[in-house]
Amino acid sequence: MHGKVLWIVLLLAFAGHAAPKSHRYDFALGNPYQDQEQPGLGDTDVGINGDNGNGNANLESPAQEQPGLGDTDVAINGDNGNGNVNLEGPAQEQPGLGDTDVAINSDNGNGNASASLEGPAKADFETTSIGNWDLVNQDSGVSAMQINLLPNNKIIAYDTKTYRKSRLLLPPGVTCLSFVDDKTKELINDCWAHSIEYDIQTNNVIPLKMESDPWCSAGGLATDGTLVGTGGFLDGEQTVRSIGACEGCQWQENVNGLKERRWYPTQIILPGGEFLVVGGRRAFSYEFLRLGRTDQKLSFFPFLYETTDLDENNLYPFVHLSTDGNVFVFANNRSVLLDPYANKIVRTFPVLPGGSRNYPASGMSALLPIKLTTDNSTPPAEVIVCGGNQNNAFRLAETKKEFVPALRDCNRIVITDPNPKWETEDMPSRRTMGDLLNLPTGELLFVNGAQRGTAAWWDAEEPNFTPVLYNPDKPQGERFKVMKASQIARMYHSSSALLPDGKIWVGGSNTHQTYVDNDRFPTETRIENFSPSYLDAELDKYRPAIDEAASAKILNYGQEFQTVFSINEVDGELSKSDIKVTIYPPPFTTHGYSMGQRLVILKNLNLNVETPGTYRLFSSAPPSGVIAPPGYYLLFVVHRGVPSKAMWVQIQ
Ligand SMILES: *[C@@H]1O[C@H](CO)[C@@H](O)[C@H](O)[C@H]1NC(C)=O
Ligand SMILES: *[C@@H]1O[C@H](CO)[C@@H](O)[C@H](O)[C@H]1NC(C)=O
Repeated sequence: MHGKVLWIVLLLAFAGHAAPKSHRYDFALGNPYQDQEQPGLGDTDVGINGDNGNGNANLESPAQEQPGLGDTDVAINGDNGNGNVNLEGPAQEQPGLGDTDVAINSDNGNGNASASLEGPAKADFETTSIGNWDLVNQDSGVSAMQINLLPNNKIIAYDTKTYRKSRLLLPPGVTCLSFVDDKTKELINDCWAHSIEYDIQTNNVIPLKMESDPWCSAGGLATDGTLVGTGGFLDGEQTVRSIGACEGCQWQENVNGLKERRWYPTQIILPGGEFLVVGGRRAFSYEFLRLGRTDQKLSFFPFLYETTDLDENNLYPFVHLSTDGNVFVFANNRSVLLDPYANKIVRTFPVLPGGSRNYPASGMSALLPIKLTTDNSTPPAEVIVCGGNQNNAFRLAETKKEFVPALRDCNRIVITDPNPKWETEDMPSRRTMGDLLNLPTGELLFVNGAQRGTAAWWDAEEPNFTPVLYNPDKPQGERFKVMKASQIARMYHSSSALLPDGKIWVGGSNTHQTYVDNDRFPTETRIENFSPSYLDAELDKYRPAIDEAASAKILNYGQEFQTVFSINEVDGELSKSDIKVTIYPPPFTTHGYSMGQRLVILKNLNLNVETPGTYRLFSSAPPSGVIAPPGYYLLFVVHRGVPSKAMWVQIQ
């Protein structure tokens, strides 16, 4: 049986990482025009970006008594003579521009103008859909214990070589893994694949070879879209493994890549683009990791030692990068805010009563959506921790085959609040080993898991077949919506991932020490897609479609960018408050936890009509890597709760 025990942590630095890679130079001019009595530019702030004759100016002034531009905000972007002006101001008594919002884009002398669409947000469209399940692959060959979607629309999935078995052979010509059989001492060949590349468009599978054991390891995408995995079992315990997002790419493995042995660790990406790898069984430390570097620091982290117990209920600690650059670490029933660079705990949160939340009790945790819709320099960050089991549930399952009911509570805490409290309510059903995914709309989805027992082989009963949608913005009592049940049990070693089309890829589940075909809970290699209610066909007329060719695919920190999309039908006047642009870096998911997961709701600046039914949205990219670490993200345009398909963007 494999493991249990402890982990945690993290960190972060915000320090101004990465200046936007722009070839433009910026300079801002102070205001020489304050307090003038004559009409003109008041309280002025001018920024000019020039590149081969391009110009950009922002002018702001209080209302004036004379006709002219009041409370004005002017931006001019020129590119070889092109210009763009946005004017906003309160109503004036004299002729002029009042309560105005004007955008003018001209291109080589062909000018056009359209008003930015302003107005209060309207309610999300209603749907009675409870979602839908589709079986998309009957046998993916390898049970999907550990998965990550890559920016080439392939999911890399793997389990472990300890089984010496799967349902898919390595391709002909690839050397098998040889090992000495424990009992017979004979040299045996293992020619099974333990990793696959899964094409989410065709549902085709390609077997991949891994040499060191990635069993119960961690992972995440590097800034260039390479999947970097860490830790594992025996010869994999100190391994750093990587595979690029490219055609025909194979695993590269460095069995001495980590400073410490890590089985059940957690890995997240930090604002500067390096990884933080936290904990693992009896690894009471964290270390920084950058592919190709060996000089990265290792730090002792006693919190992981303090939170372990007889059942080792603090493995795979929940680690989230907060909006203040610190790292939230939750282990067992305690949590702290860590400055990983200073190796300093900057805040200790109240203990969360009720039971244990990490492996093997295996609750779920995610960051709630980060909203950049206000001018708050540190937007609030809120964490949710739900389900799990009592702290001796693993022992009871292991030793007595007694399967304790899983926890049903769901708890939230604002981790940027200096004096926060847990807010608690009940889920519609009990859940251990579930996944908790952020969705494009800002909702979350609970899926997979069991209603009794814990993680580890043969230790759970009563699959939880029923996903639950969670809307964090609704008041308590109205947040949960029960979805349609699946027919397939997804318990220990199951996984799920948000796809660019808004569906959820669901795979894995193996409650046995090897691959078992005939059992109440056979080893699962079937893959399903779950469509949450926002994919209801009745909503398709409202669904935005991004024009990828006309939209920005590189987002530079703090800079404005444009997205063009069309919508067949809007209900009344569309306003920019009816549109949400959300970004999501595909996380590494295993053991009911999606590492590095975050959904960021960007700030909209202006929404213009391009042609009837087509819109050009001006938005602000995230201010820094603290809010959105550099790398590949899925970008969705959401119209009153109805998401587009995503476009891949790169944030730098
Ligand atoms: C306005 O200008 C944009 C950018 O040059 C162009 O793509 C668009 O077609 C124009 N719209 C109209 C209505 O002429
Ligand atoms: C927290 O977890 C530890 C270890 O399982 C346990 O001994 C302790 O009673 C728990 N505390 C609370 C308040 O539940």
